[in-house]
Amino acid sequence: MDVYQAVTSRRAVRRFTDREVPREVLERVLSAAAWAPSGSNMQPWNTYVLTGSRLAELKKRAIERAASSDPSDERQFEIYPPALKSPYIDRRLAFGRSRYGALGILREDTAARRKVALANWDCFGAPAALFCYIDRDMCRPQWADVGMYLQTIMLLLRAEGLHSCPQVAWSMYHRTVAEVLSPPPGLVLFCGMSIGYEDTTVPEPRTGRAPLSETVTFIED
Ligand SMILES: Cc1cc2nc3c(=O)[nH]c(=O)nc-3n(C[C@H](O)[C@H](O)[C@H](O)COP(=O)(O)O)c2cc1C
Repeated sequence: MDVYQAVTSRRAVRRFTDREVPREVLERVLSAAAWAPSGSNMQPWNTYVLTGSRLAELKKRAIERAASSDPSDERQFEIYPPALKSPYIDRRLAFGRSRYGALGILREDTAARRKVALANWDCFGAPAALFCYIDRDMCRPQWADVGMYLQTIMLLLRAEGLHSCPQVAWSMYHRTVAEVLSPPPGLVLFCGMSIGYEDTTVPEPRTGRAPLSETVTFIED
């Protein structure tokens, strides 16, 4: 698989089979992803990989929490700006329409939407997940470094025939995650990531992208 194929075949997959992901594959991917760039080579990522009974334990705790309508933990960072403006709000709404529309769920059907969102806490059925933390003292460029690192992981997973779904949703339950992972103090949970083999029996639509002219400006003679 070349890099273009890895980039274009990566999608946020939200339905996985229970086929186990071998530990050596995860180690190979994470060893290669460590070559991701970072400002001054600080490598500001702190990654925990969960499989087996420990992941099952986390899923159970999170699902129970969600079922009891336990509110999110206090925010360690804002996931979205409080007032999203155009064109971002338009793209966000279009994503919601496409995702929930494909599942036959109407915009006003908040109960059905909430049920779909609950699948986050089961890692969409994935048998492996990682949780990426960043030191709370880090600045915006280091958060960008972590993003590049996570994308590198997702592309390498494609090369291994695996799929993934990044999940910032886990930041809302960071205390539950910490109960299972026991990270050292001072780290902020940025993102989880479900990892596994795609369940292709229920195809999900590909999300679209803005045309190049909306996001890229070429300045030439
Ligand atoms: C940092 C980050 C966090 C995300 N968090 C979630 C999440 O919590 N739950 C989820 O279902 N999808 C999540 N996504 C997936 C996005 O919705 C998805 O990447 C986007 O809609 C584009 O679709 P695609 O990745 O399939 O091309 C996240 C993506 C990123 C990059």
